[in-house]
Amino acid sequence: MRPIGVIHSPFTDTNQMPIQSSTSEAIGQVEVYPEFDDGLQDIDEFSHLHLLYVFHCSSGYVLHVKPFLDDHPRGVFATRHPCRPNPIGLSVVRLIERNGNVLEVEGVDMLDGTPLLDIKPYVPDFDIRLDVRTGWYAKRSIK
Ligand SMILES: C[S@@+](CC[C@H](N)C(=O)[O-])C[C@H]1O[C@@H](n2cnc3c(N)ncnc32)[C@H](O)[C@@H]1O
Repeated sequence: MRPIGVIHSPFTDTNQMPIQSSTSEAIGQVEVYPEFDDGLQDIDEFSHLHLLYVFHCSSGYVLHVKPFLDDHPRGVFATRHPCRPNPIGLSVVRLIERNGNVLEVEGVDMLDGTPLLDIKPYVPDFDIRLDVRTGWYAKRSIK
């Protein structure tokens, strides 16, 4: 795998930054490298996008981790923590506009300079499940 672009965000360190895109109003720019920008055709007909990217500033991984919103260690795959064996992040952002190979988006929760792996359209029919259980998150100690 190789990056197809880079995400520009207002956040240069992990202090005081959003922990999820759903709670972020921050604006960022998703720059797609020119060799891939033909793949952006039709993207501006979608209001929301999934971004897949590398947590490039996380070092190493742990199999048990205290999630940002809980006091108890949980299996890393039951969390969205950045320290994972394959440090891949996933965020849903709102597409504001496309300017050539740059997408202006709202809801960034990643650091400036984050390498972009992929973009997919957010489609409620594919992506929403209504009958769900949310494990420790439903009982979390930090609201
Ligand atoms: C809890 S993760 C959630 C990210 C994504 N929405 C997900 O679910 O995969 C968000 C946190 O990861 C950290 N982070 C964001 N971008 C990062 C990067 N490029 N390298 C390392 N850590 C990063 C920051 O502490 C940020 O608050």
